[in-house]
Amino acid sequence: MLCFGLLLVSLATQLQGLEILDPREVEYIHLQVNGTAGGSVTLDCGPTLPTIYVWAFTAAGSEGSSALAYNYGHGAKLQPRSLRSARMSIPLNSTTLVLTEVQVEAQGTYTCQALYDVEDGARVTFYITRLAVEEEED
Ligand SMILES: *[C@@H]1O[C@H](CO)[C@@H](O)[C@H](O)[C@H]1NC(C)=O
Ligand SMILES: *[C@@H]1O[C@H](CO)[C@@H](O)[C@H](O)[C@H]1NC(C)=O
Repeated sequence: MLCFGLLLVSLATQLQGLEILDPREVEYIHLQVNGTAGGSVTLDCGPTLPTIYVWAFTAAGSEGSSALAYNYGHGAKLQPRSLRSARMSIPLNSTTLVLTEVQVEAQGTYTCQALYDVEDGARVTFYITRLAVEEEED
């Protein structure tokens, strides 16, 4: 458990740690979501509940990423102050990151790193969603 935790924390902060995994076991899924300032968006992390997952955010034009939320098997935990440009929530028993009151500054890349325990070890899928936010039209 501790081992998985450390792995995913390092994945979340730097997208490092992949060396420890067989690259063939890692799948990358790229998604695009467009939102409007003041509105809400839903960011997906696959149809099944992984054993462990971490959501991280990299702001547009920025190099660093910050962990937004994680679930090590005891329910989703949000990092309340990690995202100032939207309100976050994760519905019960899901991996879906719901952002409301989205501001233009919420633009960037949202990565969900999901680890699934399978018979022959662990499988990791990265759901990488690029979020664009347009100014509200009136
Ligand atoms: C998002 O906006 C881009 C640029 O306007 C467009 O090419 C793309 O099709 C849009 N994607 C979705 C899912 O609406
Ligand atoms: C969430 O999962 C738990 C355990 O599987 C289940 O007991 C509970 O009913 C689920 N809640 C919802 C809202 O799906």
